[in-house]
Amino acid sequence: MVTELKKGVYWVGVVDWDIRKFHGQELSTHRGTTYNSYLIMDEKITLVDTVWGPFQDQLVENISKVVDPAKIDIVVANHGETDHSGGLPAIMRHCPNATVVVSKRGEESIEGHYHKQWKFKQVKTGDRICIGKNELVFIEAPMLHWPDSMFTYLTGLNILMPNDAFGQHYATSSRFNDEVDQVELYQEALKYYANILTPFSAKVLKKIEEVVAMGLPVDMIAPSHGVLWRNDPLQIVKKYAEWAAQVPEKKAVIVYDTMWNGTRQMAEAIADGLTAEGVRSKLLLASTTDRNDIMVEIFKAKAIIVGSPTLNRGLLPTIMPVLEDIRGLDFKNKVGAAFGSYGWGGESVKLLEEHLRNSGIPTVVEGVRAKWQPKEADLEKCRALGRAMAQAVKA
Ligand code: FEO
Repeated sequence: MVTELKKGVYWVGVVDWDIRKFHGQELSTHRGTTYNSYLIMDEKITLVDTVWGPFQDQLVENISKVVDPAKIDIVVANHGETDHSGGLPAIMRHCPNATVVVSKRGEESIEGHYHKQWKFKQVKTGDRICIGKNELVFIEAPMLHWPDSMFTYLTGLNILMPNDAFGQHYATSSRFNDEVDQVELYQEALKYYANILTPFSAKVLKKIEEVVAMGLPVDMIAPSHGVLWRNDPLQIVKKYAEWAAQVPEKKAVIVYDTMWNGTRQMAEAIADGLTAEGVRSKLLLASTTDRNDIMVEIFKAKAIIVGSPTLNRGLLPTIMPVLEDIRGLDFKNKVGAAFGSYGWGGESVKLLEEHLRNSGIPTVVEGVRAKWQPKEADLEKCRALGRAMAQAVKA
């Protein structure tokens, strides 16, 4: 349903209730998502961002409820990823002479995706376009989360449209933050941050400082996914500053996989050691737990303890996606350790430790290996590892 957000500014996006995997199969979206698109009815009719390609007809239909899409003068493409630019071909068929406003890298990515010679206008931070009563102000936001990303700010109505930043994959029948379950909202906002923005945390902090220094009053933050922040809109900015600092909670996550339960017994003994020292932990079986949910738990915890038996002189393949994400997300302020059972070669623990160190996570306690099924002496070594990790967590 088209929603008027403020006088003359409409949400014309799409709620995708059904999507459960995003970025192909890469990112889980347990609560669906939305693709937010904003129509500004000023002297120059402006559309800020579109929707994912499969929904482009619905976007055109939504716009048509407010104005003939042929009358659009300006289309701002804050970011080239296709969940926001996918509606451009349909929109541009209606208004082929509209100006497509992009960052420098945005032009590169949009041309790369659609191979069309639309009338592009490149903008950079601080550039303004007068659309009648109000102006659009642009703020480049490279690596939040793509090199092409930028924010658009609407003067007069004080709406910041920061594209992916401050978003959530959260399908709801409501458009605003004060109309939804706050626990769900923050679970989705954090999952989004942890899985998409963690590697760019230093840039998040800088960008927040830069936008604050511009002194633009913000009455509403309208991201490109999920609900809009109208009630205390800066609450999510403060939350981002907190998340970007990556100060972990004093707890541990044990992520492992197991073949015949030997490594599982070790994981449980490590958890016992942590508990004995008053440190909470979660045991997450890599092969059956959603990888993106695992990343949220890792994001929050100080200690990451990873376990795998040895298979073919290496690791269980089911642990590999988790390790790749740990490397790619570039977590800060963590401590790590490794463990695993084996029958013949026993290489897994050394490989896990290398993975952690190569991901910038120091291994602060020597790993534990157990041959065949762990004996009581092996389990005691695991409890000792847990106790030692507890001290590192509390340090
Ligand atoms: Fe970077 Fe929502 O796309």
